[in-house]
Amino acid sequence: MGKFPLFPEQASTFAPDVDHLTYFLLAVAVFFTLLIFCSIFYLAIRYRRRSDQELPHVPHGGMALEIVWSVIPFGITMVMFTWGASVFFNESRPPDNAMPLYVVAKQWMWKIEHMEGQREINELHIPLGRAVKLTMASEDVIHSFFVPAFRVKQDVVPGKYSTIWFQPTKPGKYHLFCAEFCGTRHSGMIGWIYVMEPQDYQNWLSGGAPAGTLAESGEKLFTELACSNCHKADGTGRCPSVEGLFGKTVQLASGAKVVADEAYLRESILHPAAKIVAGYQPVMPTFQGLVTEDGVLQLIEYIKSLGPKPVVGGGGALGK
Ligand code: CUA
Repeated sequence: MGKFPLFPEQASTFAPDVDHLTYFLLAVAVFFTLLIFCSIFYLAIRYRRRSDQELPHVPHGGMALEIVWSVIPFGITMVMFTWGASVFFNESRPPDNAMPLYVVAKQWMWKIEHMEGQREINELHIPLGRAVKLTMASEDVIHSFFVPAFRVKQDVVPGKYSTIWFQPTKPGKYHLFCAEFCGTRHSGMIGWIYVMEPQDYQNWLSGGAPAGTLAESGEKLFTELACSNCHKADGTGRCPSVEGLFGKTVQLASGAKVVADEAYLRESILHPAAKIVAGYQPVMPTFQGLVTEDGVLQLIEYIKSLGPKPVVGGGGALGK
């Protein structure tokens, strides 16, 4: 069916699953549409009024029929539900060994950052056969990352991280679209995903001359923004040390506990007063407007590089 022009190419491990479910839903819809239409015509002719005096016989009761037409649709919808849920959960849970990448959406472009420091705009190069996990943020409005050939689509909402993952199964060049109306040039917010043989990908990675890894850029930013004045590495500063912070459980002044994942770090940079660490004063100013979403991602990578262990699971919310 991948050759049939109505369907995009099947280029990820999700594609066959999503397509089989689509065919099933289509088949059920076509079957019942035909059944109902044919029945209308058949019954209209079979039970037509034959004389002016003829009155219809009104049946009362019919428990068996009631049960049949309740149980069969219930069974079919439960199949749709469990099948759909299993595809959905599979798409929601990136494997632990997925290659992390960052995406920042803004009017009207996709900015992509590799851990090694490569940056791309409206292009994404990835190796064949490797699971890839995208952590996505928006600088302005809601966008949506959509790759039809991979059968993945995920809204990118300002103020939070969204994650998505996929595993490409076929080398090639695939469309990337923005699937959420985001302003006058929404239709131009498109790009290409390049799925490369692993060796070609390595060559591509070493080809460019990146300014430094994400973590290195983050370290520079940490100094430039004077974060290091308060967040002293030895813990003697006015603010808690970020050394070994990532993935740790943090005790808050409110008595609550929180795991230091990407979402927590992002919030602490942009809305420092939201969660105060126990034993510290709310002295940190907000960095909202002073640091871009790219910058926040770099700072998080820097803090991760000092951290003991990565948080596993989708966006840090699952699998702990
Ligand atoms: Cu971004 Cu539409």
